[in-house]
Amino acid sequence: MNKATPAIQFRWVSIETHGDVIRALRRKILVDEQGFPPSIVDAPGDDTALHLCGFAGERLVSAVAVFIHDGADPELRQWQLPEVSGLVTHYGRYVVDPEFRGAKLAELMGRVLARHVFETLQPTIDFIILQGPHRELESFYRRLFWFRLHARVGAGDDETVVMVRPPKDYPRAYLFARQREQALSRQLGIYCPSLIRFLEQQGREELIPTDGHVRANYYTSPLSLSDELPRLSAQNRLLFAEQQPRLAQVEFPPGPGRLLDLGTGSGVYLSLLRAHAGLAGYEFHGLDLSSRLLQYARMTAPDISWHVASAYQTGLPDASFDVVHASFVFIHLVNVDLALREINRLLKPGGLLYVVDINDATFRGPPEIHEMIKVHAAIYEGDRTILESLPRRAGDFEFALERQFKTTLRNTAASETPEFLPDEVRLGRVTLWGMYSFLGQREELEDEFDVAQDLYFSSGCEISVDVETHVYRKPRAASTASAPPRRPRPSTETSAQHAG
Ligand SMILES: C[S@@+](CC[C@H](N)C(=O)[O-])C[C@H]1O[C@@H](n2cnc3c(N)ncnc32)[C@H](O)[C@@H]1O
Repeated sequence: MNKATPAIQFRWVSIETHGDVIRALRRKILVDEQGFPPSIVDAPGDDTALHLCGFAGERLVSAVAVFIHDGADPELRQWQLPEVSGLVTHYGRYVVDPEFRGAKLAELMGRVLARHVFETLQPTIDFIILQGPHRELESFYRRLFWFRLHARVGAGDDETVVMVRPPKDYPRAYLFARQREQALSRQLGIYCPSLIRFLEQQGREELIPTDGHVRANYYTSPLSLSDELPRLSAQNRLLFAEQQPRLAQVEFPPGPGRLLDLGTGSGVYLSLLRAHAGLAGYEFHGLDLSSRLLQYARMTAPDISWHVASAYQTGLPDASFDVVHASFVFIHLVNVDLALREINRLLKPGGLLYVVDINDATFRGPPEIHEMIKVHAAIYEGDRTILESLPRRAGDFEFALERQFKTTLRNTAASETPEFLPDEVRLGRVTLWGMYSFLGQREELEDEFDVAQDLYFSSGCEISVDVETHVYRKPRAASTASAPPRRPRPSTETSAQHAG
């Protein structure tokens, strides 16, 4: 792409609505340009595949399909793949118009697919097929996408190369894909909407293994609860003071109402929040994955309803809350879209989603401390920069960002007593470091942590980071877009051609 090339938008589409344009692009690239037989234009699994397309305006310029198989599908044996339980995904039929080649579009599409497919479908095996010997392509998929050679079927020009992303590498490959996607997406200005939302709109939610997502709890909770509680309680009090002017500016649906605090933790914050005048007449509910934290919460506030459950699957009734609150939770979620889907289901029309989180993308300080944050971001299953993309992602679930506040936390207070200014809180050096000290618990960044901590306490350097508050509103009237046609379960058809 060059400066004159129009901007590209990614969209998930169905073969019913976009089959003609997808086939036309495949014909142009795979048959006319690359010399494959015309049979390549149609893939047997097309009608159940997921189609990710790039559009310049309304013109289709790139497309790729993710073919979905049941792990027991006998057709997979032709690729020497073992029988497995769960889904098997196969990426294929990648095509891009010559005008749009280069400039990392192919890489971004691959990253986007890897992240969305992992986050949404959690396949057991993920593979690609290259038709004919393609040493450069093999190397491209190995270096950039963590695919490893699995089998060579046939010989010479009839050789088919099967490459698989080994399941043990999958979590790391996912984190790597997510980071590269974020960087490329910013660089190219291309955003990919939620696959979860698309499946929901297509009536294909059965493809989302919600139970599996709930079980895969990647949150690294504090190793020692009793050690951490005093620190977390102090942070809760600080946050509540910071939130006073924010809460005062938000128009909550009038009481009587119901508020759910997702990822409530020890419940200290919710106990403070319920005193807010704008929530008078409300009934309060707190929910967390951790039954140990909720034991503590129950003791401190027996009159609040506490629920042990996942933010992805709360088990609470549809449209039963006026406000969903989540402080310091979104940064820990592996699957933000699944939580947004659940929040959308729980809120009444016109209800509010109130999010407070730190945003590490706003961190300012010496390079050594930046480095520690960067290395942590590369290994952490959550995303401490999620607020950068949350407005768009929430927008996929029809939430409109109504208010956004930023408070800069700085380590420049004269003592350890916080000083509150408009949009700024000055903290003592030890207090602000306390917000990053948990990074030292991850073995993988021991070295970076030690370097950063030594520098911090020996240099008197200034650091700052923003805490942001986002207030989203669910539309007051139900949207027609969320009333999807139901589709049948996927068949087990396969595609036998190369990725293009
Ligand atoms: C940093 S604590 C924040 C607690 C509290 N909201 C606060 O502001 O102090 C994050 C909390 O989110 C919870 N959590 C993480 N992932 C979750 C999930 N998928 N479902 C429910 N709770 C989750 C953790 O157990 C933890 O208590």
